[in-house]
Amino acid sequence: MNFKIPIVAPSLLAADYTRLGDEISDCLKADTRWIHCDIMDGHFVPNISYGPDVVAAVRRAAPEAFLDVHLMIENPDQFIEAFSDAGADLISVHYETCPHLHSTLQNIHYHGCMSGIAINPGTSVELIEPVLNYLDLVLLMSVNPGFGGQSFIEESYEKLRRLVAMRRDHKSDFLIEIDGGVSLKNIHKLVESGVDVLVVGSGVFKADDVTQRVKDLQEKANLGRKDFV
Ligand code: DX5
Ligand code: ZN
Repeated sequence: MNFKIPIVAPSLLAADYTRLGDEISDCLKADTRWIHCDIMDGHFVPNISYGPDVVAAVRRAAPEAFLDVHLMIENPDQFIEAFSDAGADLISVHYETCPHLHSTLQNIHYHGCMSGIAINPGTSVELIEPVLNYLDLVLLMSVNPGFGGQSFIEESYEKLRRLVAMRRDHKSDFLIEIDGGVSLKNIHKLVESGVDVLVVGSGVFKADDVTQRVKDLQEKANLGRKDFV
């Protein structure tokens, strides 16, 4: 699949759930296609969000969107089919929840979705080296998963630098996504450092004008891309 990099992916976790359809269409008006759905189970992370039925509603509200589903759940294999049926385009599972990574990635592809692996701030990027040629995206968590509105962990830049080098050394073409504490303040530096996809939750939905905020984020991200070497 071809994407115009960099991509801003608004995270619905920070949206007003009473007007989810409008929140989504405000994002899509800014020309972004990606919508990030955070699935939390109260076990792997200390919070519960929503499940496949809500993802299916998001799909109905936005047939043209690219649904980027981030599973922060134990036993993700058990739910891959349900999220694929709900309309996910890409499913990311956490390294910390998957003892059989190759088979989980195969399972995601088998159900017709792109595959991603998410890693927590305390997990080294080197641990996913054996599966780099089997995935479409690596999601670097830049906060500990579970809640929106947290501060960006600055050490994420060093992990990002190592991941970009690993991608180059492996001649891989997976996308690098960052999630947590992304804002107008750091988006340029993140793209300049090699990020392709930027998840933004409170930085989008707490704005007075959601469409304008996504446009502003995209514009800053585009400038950062020019400086990525
Ligand atoms: C956190 C989630 C994030 C969250 C980001 O566990 O994975 O996607 O919504 O929210 P902000 O952008 O507010 O840090
Ligand atoms: Zn997320």
